[in-house]
Amino acid sequence: MMDINSIKKDFPILKKQINNTPLVYLDNAASTQKPNQVIQSIVESYELYNSNVHRGVHTTSMEATERYELAREKVAKFINAKSNDEIVYVRNTTEALNLVAYAWGLNNIDSTENIVVTELEHHSNLVPWQFVSQKTNCELRIIPTTPEGTLDLSSIDKLITESTKIVSIVHVSNLTGTINPIDEIIKKAKSVGAKVCIDAAQSVPHMPVDVQQIDCDFLAFSGHKMLAPPGIGILYGKTEILEKLEPFLRGGEMVKEVTYSSATWNDIPTKFEAGTPNFIDPIGLGVAIDYLSNIGMENVRQHEKDLIKYALDRLTEIPGLEIIGPTNPEMRGGVATFSMNDIHPHDIGTILDQRGIAIRTGHHCGMPYHKKLGLSATSRASFYLYNDYNDIDKLVDGMNDVINYFK
Ligand code: ALA
Repeated sequence: MMDINSIKKDFPILKKQINNTPLVYLDNAASTQKPNQVIQSIVESYELYNSNVHRGVHTTSMEATERYELAREKVAKFINAKSNDEIVYVRNTTEALNLVAYAWGLNNIDSTENIVVTELEHHSNLVPWQFVSQKTNCELRIIPTTPEGTLDLSSIDKLITESTKIVSIVHVSNLTGTINPIDEIIKKAKSVGAKVCIDAAQSVPHMPVDVQQIDCDFLAFSGHKMLAPPGIGILYGKTEILEKLEPFLRGGEMVKEVTYSSATWNDIPTKFEAGTPNFIDPIGLGVAIDYLSNIGMENVRQHEKDLIKYALDRLTEIPGLEIIGPTNPEMRGGVATFSMNDIHPHDIGTILDQRGIAIRTGHHCGMPYHKKLGLSATSRASFYLYNDYNDIDKLVDGMNDVINYFK
């Protein structure tokens, strides 16, 4: 059992008042709050260890480097990577996916081949592949969805074929909360020799993810969605693939030998970390991982499963409210997306905000999927380990106020 009251105390922002009511933070799919432990680690980094990494022989630089690499080791353990070298520091999921698209996609796909994504992709796992498709003239294939917002795999044998070079799919959808059956899709991709890239932005922060067990080639996620600062994201890649990959950005530190006419590349992962990296935020990510590991990712997942079940049950009591995405909590992360008859999501978001309740409204970087639903925007409440049933009750009370306001 998780002690949510004691967890809440670790997050200073949850004491904030908006219009004299305590903040109810339900926008975790967009970004999560930071516990004292993470905030203090950042303060400590600036106060005691602020120096460039991998570039100095002085004590502070060496201490900073040690902490920076220790954080990489924590990330590797957290997702069960075989080696720390398989963990590349980037800014966020979007940069990680662009790295794969530019460095692997542009160099490995030709006009007779294809890339497979799904209708549930965030723009960050769609737009880079549209670019690769335009540059290489290859086909971009899209796995469709059922009316319930799950993937329709009935035509998978026609979509993932011998000419498929990469299947790049979202693990948990930020639009519908759907937990996609990635094991089945990866098995299919491997059977035709395609590479697999997983957008794990909404899964790694919320459930156990083991890269060796799922056997993906690349996996991307962001620190800020898992209690860490916003400047650090992770690209995981299998050693043998990263070693063969061309660099994405070129410049300082990513090189081994440079002449005026040419250069050779450093070992992985440094080959992908050109220039002075963000050497503060990975420390915060390491501490966030300690925090999550102490609670246990199985417990985080169970807690969110309980919350989403309760939220879906309570939200469906509201007349005119339609849940977007699957209603079975087993198939859904802690993301409650909904639309309301004639009330615009921005009006819903504004009225809830007056009661201190923060949700996200809009298309959530999923314009094509919203178009498919015939909606320009939806409302979305998304949960994390510091949320409880009381937060959901406040959301439901707030929604009843929205209805009364528009009566
Ligand atoms: N991708 C983030 C979201 O879904 C920003 O809100």
